[in-house]
Amino acid sequence: MPTVHVSIPDRSYSLLIEHGILGRLGEVAGSLGFTSPVLLAADANVLATHARVARTSLEQRGIEPILHVLVAEEKRKNLEAVHRMYDAMLAGRIERRSAVIALGGGVTGDIAGFAAATFMRGVPVLQVPTTLLAMVDAAIGGKTGVNLLRPADDAGRREMAKNLVGAFWQPRAVVVDPAVLDTLDPRHFRCGLAECVKHGMIADPGLLSFIDTNHDGIESHEPAVLTELITRSVRVKVDIVVADEREQGQRALLNLGHTFAHAIEPIEALDLRHGEAVSIGLCAAAACAAATGRFSPVAAQHLEALLRRLGLPTRLSQRVNVDRLVAAMGFDKKVAGGRLRLVLPIGPGQCEIVDDPDLHSVREAWVAVGAHPARAAR
Ligand SMILES: NC(=O)c1ccc[n+]([C@@H]2O[C@H](COP(=O)([O-])OP(=O)(O)OC[C@H]3O[C@@H](n4cnc5c(N)ncnc54)[C@H](O)[C@@H]3O)[C@@H](O)[C@H]2O)c1
Repeated sequence: MPTVHVSIPDRSYSLLIEHGILGRLGEVAGSLGFTSPVLLAADANVLATHARVARTSLEQRGIEPILHVLVAEEKRKNLEAVHRMYDAMLAGRIERRSAVIALGGGVTGDIAGFAAATFMRGVPVLQVPTTLLAMVDAAIGGKTGVNLLRPADDAGRREMAKNLVGAFWQPRAVVVDPAVLDTLDPRHFRCGLAECVKHGMIADPGLLSFIDTNHDGIESHEPAVLTELITRSVRVKVDIVVADEREQGQRALLNLGHTFAHAIEPIEALDLRHGEAVSIGLCAAAACAAATGRFSPVAAQHLEALLRRLGLPTRLSQRVNVDRLVAAMGFDKKVAGGRLRLVLPIGPGQCEIVDDPDLHSVREAWVAVGAHPARAAR
């Protein structure tokens, strides 16, 4: 079974990646020393399927799971959800030596991970991601957290600030079963592919070729292909997290495409999911790098063609004004010390962190992905 070790002093753990491993969850939990009761925090959309398999496996091993259901909606990824989980943990007599198992996508992993990090100053958590995005990204690296509402603006609107309350809390292990992706809707699956491409762009050009060559196997969820795709992608994130757990430096590379993506994701008219915004963001980052001579325009075209082939958007579906987008980037939390920070590709599998990028090239990048260049057009 492909196993990737995350070697962080005092908190090392393994990612176990195997088709069908969910049916052996009890065995894994037992090997980690988990005993009854454990809180099984499960995404409502996997209750009838994967949560059932997980429960049976835990029970067979003599571990009693207390089921707590979470609704995976970004607007419900908040402190209220965490409170409800604390209540379930108290009612279920979860204590420091008990454990939490998070079964679901990134929303579930973030809420359950944060509740586990803070309940009684920390109970162990086992992450069992059920979306591709969570498998290759959200479940790894120990970041947990929930959203907050900002104070009302002049118009009385309260904007959601993503992941503003959180903690670093490394899981005891991550159990990845690619078979659970069979029930995921194809649009969410593609969103995860955008993050895999991002990882290839950051550190593994071979991963990009693998995705290109195995496009059919990826689409048909061929077990060996998915296992390889996930394992390679995970390795990129793990290497970076191990080198920089607390995002003091190199971990920022994982934001490739994200500063652009965060500017378009909240625009309702564009109707973009996170991975789709990341896909356009990757193209914008490549265009920005090409505009400054860092990245070859041909490589930028290859990237765009690959994303398109995967069924991901590479351009804005409506002509949003470039001024609006540039302004939105300034509010992104990746702005370091008041300065704009971008991650730009300098070759397939190689990126650099650029502080205070030239505004002209940022505008050019937005126009390259379909933004309207004229001032005050929209
Ligand atoms: N902690 C981190 O480091 C980190 C990194 C990246 C993203 N995130 C967070 O992850 C979240 C996004 O995660 P996501 O993309 O996994 O979305 P998600 O958790 O919202 O799941 C997407 C949808 O798929 C459903 N679902 C999940 N697994 C399923 C399955 N196997 N079959 C059928 N339906 C299934 C969910 O119920 C939901 O409707 C965001 O909140 C983001 O901020 C966190």
